[in-house]
Parts: sequence; C-alpha cells; structure tokens
Amino acid sequence: MTKVKKIFICSNCGANSPKWIGKCTSCGEWNSYHEEVIVKNTTQEEKRKTWKNTAYGNGPQPIALPEIKAGNTQRLVTPDQELNRVLGGGIVGGSLILIGGQPGIGKSTLMLQVALTVPAKILYVSGEESEEQIKMRSDRIGKPNSSCFVLTETNTSKILAHAQSLRPDLIVIDSIQTLSSPHIDSTPGSISQVRDCAGELQRFAKETGIPVIIIGHITKDGAIAGPKLLEHIVDAVLQFEGDRNYTYRILRTIKNRFGSTDEMGIYEMQSNGLREVSNPSELLLSQNEENLSGSAVSATMEGMRPMLIESQALVTTAVYGTPQRTATGFDLRRLSMLLAVLEKRMGFPFGQNDVFLNIAGGIKVDDPAIDLGIVAALISSLEDISIPSDVCFAGEVGLSGEIRAVNRIDQRIQEADRLGFKQIFISKYNTKGLDPKRYNIDIFTVGKVEELYRAVFE
Ligand code: TYD
Ligand code: MG
Repeated sequence: MTKVKKIFICSNCGANSPKWIGKCTSCGEWNSYHEEVIVKNTTQEEKRKTWKNTAYGNGPQPIALPEIKAGNTQRLVTPDQELNRVLGGGIVGGSLILIGGQPGIGKSTLMLQVALTVPAKILYVSGEESEEQIKMRSDRIGKPNSSCFVLTETNTSKILAHAQSLRPDLIVIDSIQTLSSPHIDSTPGSISQVRDCAGELQRFAKETGIPVIIIGHITKDGAIAGPKLLEHIVDAVLQFEGDRNYTYRILRTIKNRFGSTDEMGIYEMQSNGLREVSNPSELLLSQNEENLSGSAVSATMEGMRPMLIESQALVTTAVYGTPQRTATGFDLRRLSMLLAVLEKRMGFPFGQNDVFLNIAGGIKVDDPAIDLGIVAALISSLEDISIPSDVCFAGEVGLSGEIRAVNRIDQRIQEADRLGFKQIFISKYNTKGLDPKRYNIDIFTVGKVEELYRAVFE
C-alpha cells in the first residue's frame, strides 16, 4: 500500500524530524527545516520480510581486503589541463563529480566545452536549456564533436535508460536541481528529489563504471537545497567561482576522493568560451610601465601554485566623520587589522583616512602571505612614494607588527625570480634551508613593519 507521509528535512545537513523545528538539533543551523512529501511503499514489516527472503547468491559478496585487486584506476584524461589537475589527473571511471557555483558563472560553458573536446562518447543531459540553445552555445565555443550527444530530459529513470543504451564514456548532468525521480512526489530541486536523484546517479556510475559529472547551483547564501547535502554522496566536489564582473574564473577542489584538495585551475571567460590560464602571474600583474604609488606585488600561493598578484591601495583624507574602508578580493576585517597595526606600531594616521584596497583581476586571496604586500601598498599610497615594479613581497603580518614566516617560501621566490623580479622581501624567520645563491633575485629579510618601511621607503 502506498502511504503518503510528510516529514521536515534540514536543508543544511539532511537530518529529518516529524515536526518543524527552528534550530536543527544535528547541525545547529537556524530555520533550515523544510516540509517534504515522501512516498513510502514499504512498511517496516515488509522491509524485514524482504531482507529475510533475499537470496544473496548474486550481487556483491564480502571479500577479504588482501584479495581485492588494486587495479589501475582508469582515468579519462581531458584536453583541459586545468580540469585534469583539479581532478588529480583526469576523470576517474565510475566516479560522481559535483560542480557547484553561482548561476551565470560559467558551469554549463565549462562542461559543454569538456563534452565538445574530449575524444570520447559524451552524453550531455540538460534540463535547463533546449537543444537549440545548446547548439548555439556549442557553435560559439566552436569545437564540433560528432560523438557528443545532447539529451533534454529531466526524468532520472529515462535519462539512465538512455545512458544504458547509448553507453557513453562520460555523462554530464546540467543541473541536479532540474532532475526529478518518478519514485518521489516532491518538486524538482527539493531536498528529497536532489538526494534521491543523486543516489540513483551514483548507483548507475558505480555499476557501469561510467563517470557522471553533475552541475549544482548555489546561491550567494547557499540557500538552494542540494549541493551541501550532496557533498556526502559524491566522490569529488569542485567549486567554480569568480567575480562576474571580471573575466577570471577559479575552479577549486573542495573534496576529492582520488586526489589532493589543494589544486586549482584558472580560466578566463572569453567570447568563445573559457580559456585555460596556465601562467596566471603574467596576467595578474598590471602592464604598467611607470611606477605608481599605492601598488605592490605579493608572491602568494593559490593551492599548490605560486602566483604573483598585484594589490592596489588608495588612501585619501576622510571626507566624512567615519573613515571608509573598502576591500575587493581581500577580507575587510583583515584590512582593518593591518591598518590598526600600522597605526599603533608606526603612528600612521589611517584613522583619519579613507582606505580602498583592490586585488587585481577580481581574484579572492586568503593566503596570509599577501599581508606584507598589502602593508607596503598602504604605506606607499599614504606617503605617495611608489615602489619599484621589480620588487615583490611575501610575509604574514602579526598583531605586534612582526613579519611572520609563510609556507613554501622557496616556490614563491622561484616564481618571482622566473618572472624577472629583482628584489623580494620576506620574513627574517623564513630563511631556514634557503640558499640565496640559487636565485638571481635579491632576497631581503625583515622582522618588523618598521624595518620594511626603512628598507623600502627611506
Ligand atoms: P553559463 O555557462 O550559462 O553559466 P552557468 O551555467 O554557471 O549558469 O555562462 C554564463 C555566462 O558566460 C553568460 O553570461 C555568458 C558568458 N559566456 C561568455 O562570455 N562566452 C562564451 O563563450 C559563453 C558560452 C558564455
Ligand atoms: Mg547553466
């Protein structure tokens, strides 16, 4: 007998409760419970009967660990080097990969591009766009692939039936929020639909060995059901991010069962699709020949990659009573802290000035090593003294104005050296195991912000 039952599910962690509660008892999130209709086909008693009567002759058997053949994981290597790196060397057979990101960031473009360029049979399922729209997009990207099949369907069972007969090498689902499973009564995009569809796709991937990539939308506050919940189900979670007003996009790994989560890929959105940026530093440095005050270059790390990024500061006399602080690509509270350190330790009157800070390229940086470069940019703008364009910085600034050591200093120096910088300022506590003779770049060490000031601006 079919029984309709309503339960409340937490959109953050997936816990459920028979009645609505304001604060989730499992994850502590407020106001995250939503009503869901679930259709129950079997009662507990029926379930018990099923497992008692199930013959376990066929299907997977328990197997002793040493007897399992290690095998070599088959990876589908795409022509997109950035994506390969982010996934740890290609798409693992039978894996379920989630790509999350805000609407309009370029998830569909990225995936269609993969579908059009991978030399394999691809099934591209879209519940969002019509065939004509996909055709138009593929014409725009301009890499026709005769073995890319497009299916506009939202019913999971039908999709999997098509996949079964087509036997592609990769399935792309755009997006999980549009799918609906015929076994469940609630609307597409609801928590139980998303969870059920993802579960079905996972079973399909594991049984057939065909990897499935699913696209999932996340709004600014992460409100839409799904991606958070899906993170537990899938093998890898990639996040596609960037500022829509800029052309750069970053693909990050949040979770990866088959590789490191420190990797990231950089793309540039162009009129004919996304272009891989294999040499980010060269693009993120402004091409300015003359030295302007207020800008400084930092040797930062984004995941495993060293990247030289320019930060620009503008310090002007405050017009209103309360000075303004604006930061793009950098944490505003961290900026306030750096300003407080400069004011307290060196007596700079930042309290009477408006401060604007901008990281080039719309990139968000949370590497603490950018601190030193930001401090240099702030002082440079305040004093109106420019920093030579062949100087860069790498160091964290502590509350008492001390310059702290940062990780992978060797790689940072190497990258700065490679890009032709002449001087790099690092923390004096960062010199362990460092051989200055290995580089052409001059390494200066500083212990406090005062020393930085004396070395650069006096
Ligand atoms: P889209 O992939 O549709 O985003 P998502 O699937 O994440 O919602 O792409 C969104 C934007 O990308 C859209 O505003 C147009 C732009 N775009 C380009 O700039 N160049 C291109 O070649 C394509 C296909 C899209
Ligand atoms: Mg899309």
